[in-house]
Amino acid sequence: MAPTDEQLDAFAAWERASWETRATSYAQSITELTRGAADALLDAAGVTAGTAMLDVATGPGVVALAAGSRGASVIAVDQSQAMVTLARSAGIDTCRAGAERLPFETGAFDAVVAGFLVNHLPRPVEGLAELARVCRARVAVSVWETPAENPALGLFGSVVRSLDFADCVPPGPDSSLYADDAGITSLFAAAGLVDVRIDRVRWTLTVAPAMWFDAVAAGTPRTGAVLAAAPAEQRAALLRSYVEAARASYRSADGMVTLPAAAVVASGVRCRSW
Ligand SMILES: C[S@@+](CC[C@H](N)C(=O)[O-])C[C@H]1O[C@@H](n2cnc3c(N)ncnc32)[C@H](O)[C@@H]1O
Repeated sequence: MAPTDEQLDAFAAWERASWETRATSYAQSITELTRGAADALLDAAGVTAGTAMLDVATGPGVVALAAGSRGASVIAVDQSQAMVTLARSAGIDTCRAGAERLPFETGAFDAVVAGFLVNHLPRPVEGLAELARVCRARVAVSVWETPAENPALGLFGSVVRSLDFADCVPPGPDSSLYADDAGITSLFAAAGLVDVRIDRVRWTLTVAPAMWFDAVAAGTPRTGAVLAAAPAEQRAALLRSYVEAARASYRSADGMVTLPAAAVVASGVRCRSW
């Protein structure tokens, strides 16, 4: 059943609060993963030297920094004050704003990008339409591939599914829809974007599995909340089974694991109404 408006508002408030407490952990660890999709996202939006680009939901600024090193002129926004502070400290021109209501004129930017934002939006169509409003050329977003294609995060799915803590994460939209071509294309169409292009990007992340377990627990809202709700003994057992599963399939040298990661990068242009 689709979530009600009230549930979506509760999901939005929960997301906002979650990122305020997880920004530092996210910056220290999860950006090691998301960085792998930054160049594909910028390529999809056609970002080169001189492009006036907006990075929506910049977080600590991974994508904005990559755009800056291409010579783009970058402005960033995030709804979390903690993330804004981190991005500013990395030298990025950042202001606090929600994707659903951007403080910019219509068509203000050549390119608008949003790395791994869409599955955090209570109302993805509205959010994407607002990104499109402020863009005069191509809007590009990245979303995670299915858990099977993206073990860097997907392996946690089986750990979390074994827990019965649905109450610690409020119901939100079904973001798993966007990993396939039809799902992301309908999202873009509903947001008024046409000429949709879809790419898939793959990379790997080499980590110590126990450290990665703790990093994901600290730096991501949903998996983090579920793991935080587990009693200490159960969490220790989950950690052991996670490490075993990761080593069984992805062991590399010195006790590390090399986890495959994958994302869908989609872009489109606004269907102009003037
Ligand atoms: C998974 S992080 C992605 C950060 C960065 N783009 C990256 O690729 O590493 C999601 C970010 O979206 C921000 N966010 C969530 N909902 C938002 C909204 N409605 N408007 C703006 N930012 C939002 C969070 O504060 C967080 O910084």
